[in-house]
Amino acid sequence: MNNKQKIINQHIKLISELKKHNNLYFNQDNPQISDADYDRIKLKALELEKKYPYLKSQDSIEKIVGTSPSNKFRKIKHLIPMLSLSNSFEKKDMVDFLKKIKNFLNLNNENVELFSEPKIDGISATLVYENGLLTKGLSRGDGLVGEDILNNLKTIKSIPKKIQSKLVPELLEIRCEVYIGKKDFNKLKESFANPRNAAGGSLRQKNSNETAKIPLRYFAYGLGAVEPQTFDRQSEFLKTISKWGFVINPLSKIVKGIDEIEKQHQQIDQIRSSLDYDIDGLVYKVNKLTLQKRLGNTSNSPRWATAYKFSAEKAITVIKDIIMQVGRTGAITPVAKVDPVTVGGVIVSNATLHNEDEISRKDIRIGDTISIQRAGDVIPQVLSVDISKRKKTSNKFIFPSKCLCGAETKKEFSESSKKEDAVRRCTKGYDCKFIAREKLKHIVSKEAFNVDGLGKKVVDQFFDLKFIKEPSDIFKLDYKKIMKLEGWGNLSVENLKKSINKSKVIQLDRFIYSIGIRHIGQENAKILAAFFISINEFKKLFKTKNRSKILENLIELDGIGMTQIKSIDNFFSNEKNIKIIEDLINQLNIYRYSIINSNGKFSNKKIMFTGGFEKMSRSEAKSITESNGGKVLGSVSKKLDLLIVGDSKPTKKKIDQAKALKIKIITENEWYKILNS
Ligand code: IVH
Repeated sequence: MNNKQKIINQHIKLISELKKHNNLYFNQDNPQISDADYDRIKLKALELEKKYPYLKSQDSIEKIVGTSPSNKFRKIKHLIPMLSLSNSFEKKDMVDFLKKIKNFLNLNNENVELFSEPKIDGISATLVYENGLLTKGLSRGDGLVGEDILNNLKTIKSIPKKIQSKLVPELLEIRCEVYIGKKDFNKLKESFANPRNAAGGSLRQKNSNETAKIPLRYFAYGLGAVEPQTFDRQSEFLKTISKWGFVINPLSKIVKGIDEIEKQHQQIDQIRSSLDYDIDGLVYKVNKLTLQKRLGNTSNSPRWATAYKFSAEKAITVIKDIIMQVGRTGAITPVAKVDPVTVGGVIVSNATLHNEDEISRKDIRIGDTISIQRAGDVIPQVLSVDISKRKKTSNKFIFPSKCLCGAETKKEFSESSKKEDAVRRCTKGYDCKFIAREKLKHIVSKEAFNVDGLGKKVVDQFFDLKFIKEPSDIFKLDYKKIMKLEGWGNLSVENLKKSINKSKVIQLDRFIYSIGIRHIGQENAKILAAFFISINEFKKLFKTKNRSKILENLIELDGIGMTQIKSIDNFFSNEKNIKIIEDLINQLNIYRYSIINSNGKFSNKKIMFTGGFEKMSRSEAKSITESNGGKVLGSVSKKLDLLIVGDSKPTKKKIDQAKALKIKIITENEWYKILNS
């Protein structure tokens, strides 16, 4: 090999190292070397390029966008949480969305006015203006706490740094989606998988001079905190801020009723590919802001909006193999390993087959030619089989009766549908190492302990190395051992240690959600936390002699049914689970659940409703009670503080029970009086 070739090879190696670390940092959010180490590689490559200019004709530093990895952005709490959106995929989902809104708001036949906007596939950011001056710019983060990326956002010229109008509210928060145009992305193609990753990577760079080199754009789409509130409708809000210099999407429109929704959805779907930015659906929002406020949010998403996705992109491929995956609840999911194929710009090599019934219904076999579809971020699905392409020698797929751990699997009987479940499950819990691994991934996830730097891949690595077998091990990691692993350095280990220590302090509701009891999602975990309040009360569930009595009391809680109660009973009937959870508790500082609004009109009050109301739906009444600090119960007991009786078909038995227990009973109108007092 001549000298020139040697230098070229050395340079190629350095550039591919940098690309690898850019990818780990920007695309996978999993940096594996320190800033200093990254800079050293970069410097070496730069020195070579300076000395041997012919290197620049190939992949050079200039073409690699991104500076040294850093996760040193200041964290700032959002003034109002940044939520996600519920998804709708077909007309029926939109009909349901409209129906739920009408029911919640107790409306009859009138159509609610909606505002529709393209859903930009970019990175969300929020801009805070105080007296018209841009003072904060944050990334979404985990929705509650974002990162201070103000300097990077300021590099986007079309973001006003000062709003000139006299009419601007004292405090104004503008939510927006930052993106890179499709044409601009073509120039950056080599360093990033898609425009979305490129925008995210660019926004999270420490050096805003680098961000400035990337042609970021944005569309403003929402209102965060505002003081005083001067806006009336979403449409009017956007029109006003557009006059103040913000960029809003020109394809937004007021629509009413399902027919208009469908028509407009189809129209935009048709022109979608001609737009210079990626959109994956349309967001439909209740236009009137007072109605949005009444509708409020569920734990993750607003009730007043939904993202109506465009139909998924499809492709044809061949099944190479069918393998089993075990989820954290023991569910066995068959997955088709397929010949890699591009679906909507993403290479796909796995597709879910859902469950045993789905395979037999569609008679899916290894070797089959199939059509697959990919919608949004979800794992692609197998749509249909092309039987004409099937070989005569092909055999029916026999679904394994055992879990990957070797244990027998079971199909449960569902109380709600009164049918046998379609899903097979391994019942070994933590004794199945496949389940244990998934449970650990759940525990460190964003909504649970939210351990930064301990993503799914790292959990896999630590699990394989036997560093962690069960949850408490996360808090007893031997960092010296991690330091010796390839890809880990001083900085990354220090960061991991910090984030693990930080996550040791956790509120009871998050803890309950984290331990992964089946059927106990975030919403139910909150209801349970509001019941138990402290970890010591929750721990009483661990003792067999207390359990059934406590579980009986849970029936009273609105939102908790027999399915949840059986599941809790099941979970704590397993000695191993109790031992694992106790060990975990010993590592933590679990603080009491506090109801967000302790000064509310119904703080610490237990309330029940019977009979339909004239002015408000039951869901809205419940939501108002909760946002005023009260708890809604589902049955009468001596714990109840107040029974509110609506005019339409109240249950006589409940009123009699309440009277017997001397519980205060009031009418719908008296309730409004308390609310307005
Ligand atoms: S409204 C309370 N409107 O989609 C959430 N979101 O899945 C209200 N997005 O975090 C969101 N375009 O980053 C809204 N026109 C649009 C949007 C939009 C893109 C993103 C945004 C949000 C995510 C929710």
